[in-house]
Amino acid sequence: MSFKIVEPAPARLNRSELAVPGSSPKLFEKAARSAADVIFLDLEDAVAPDDKPQARKNIIEAINDVDWGNKTLAVRINGLDTHYMYRDVVDVVENAGERIDLIMIPKVGTASDVYAVDMLVTQIEAAKGRKKRIGFELIIETALGMANIDEIATASKRNESLHFGVADYAASTKAQTTGIGGPNPSYGILTDKDGDKPRDYHWGDMWHYATARMVVAARAAGLRPVDGPFGDFSDAEGFKAHARRAAVLGCEGKWAIHPSQIALANEVFSPSEAEIAKAKRILEAMVQAQKEGRGAVALDGKLIDFASIRQAEVMVKKAEQIAG
Ligand code: GLV
Ligand code: MG
Repeated sequence: MSFKIVEPAPARLNRSELAVPGSSPKLFEKAARSAADVIFLDLEDAVAPDDKPQARKNIIEAINDVDWGNKTLAVRINGLDTHYMYRDVVDVVENAGERIDLIMIPKVGTASDVYAVDMLVTQIEAAKGRKKRIGFELIIETALGMANIDEIATASKRNESLHFGVADYAASTKAQTTGIGGPNPSYGILTDKDGDKPRDYHWGDMWHYATARMVVAARAAGLRPVDGPFGDFSDAEGFKAHARRAAVLGCEGKWAIHPSQIALANEVFSPSEAEIAKAKRILEAMVQAQKEGRGAVALDGKLIDFASIRQAEVMVKKAEQIAG
């Protein structure tokens, strides 16, 4: 390991993160009773400009009045390029009581964006005598944000997670797609010509780089990487396939833009019984190996070594976190 110790963000389950428009208060109670690990009440893109003042009021009332149980509760403010943002922060942090856990900052482009919100939140917390420090969730969803992702990830001690906002990212990079997440048939590989053999066309994952890049930046800063939205909420299998790829790369969870996606995300981002059992067997085998003075042994015909211990511990710790 490096001599530099990476401080992990506070441990929170973040398998599913439900988006709830602040302009739809009728959805709040249902969201609070859902199985989502995290809920973000939205003041940004799901709320029409004329509805923003009322959405702020709805959110403040709901944070204070609704029983959110043990959920992590976040509010997505508007971007720093809008005139809504300062009022979102001032109104919410001044009036929302201690129940709010996180502020989600969209379209973060530079570390200074995070610094600016940190300054505002810090002043309000001090002025109001708030006891609980509010954390930050940062959406990486522009080319600028992706280019500056490492500095953004370490820009504030409040930072807890990075999120890949695939829809705005596609718009910002001028990607040839209008879908929200998921695969694109135009992003594929055609196998070489080989005589008269039919050629195969394989779809690729056009979001691979962005997701993997975010995972590295987040983990290097001790933050949770979280995959963003999958727009086709009638395609459960498509959602799961996309979520599985994100999980395999190291993401801790994925957004749910529809309640039906909550259970899917919770399932994909929870290790299965078989995975947990395998991880425990690896740990047992390595304890035995160490007793015998060996650093590497075979388990089920495959090599395991000290790195396997660290991989297995990640799995077992996640299972313990989920079990509560
Ligand atoms: C989320 O905000 C996105 O743009 O995908
Ligand atoms: Mg967005």
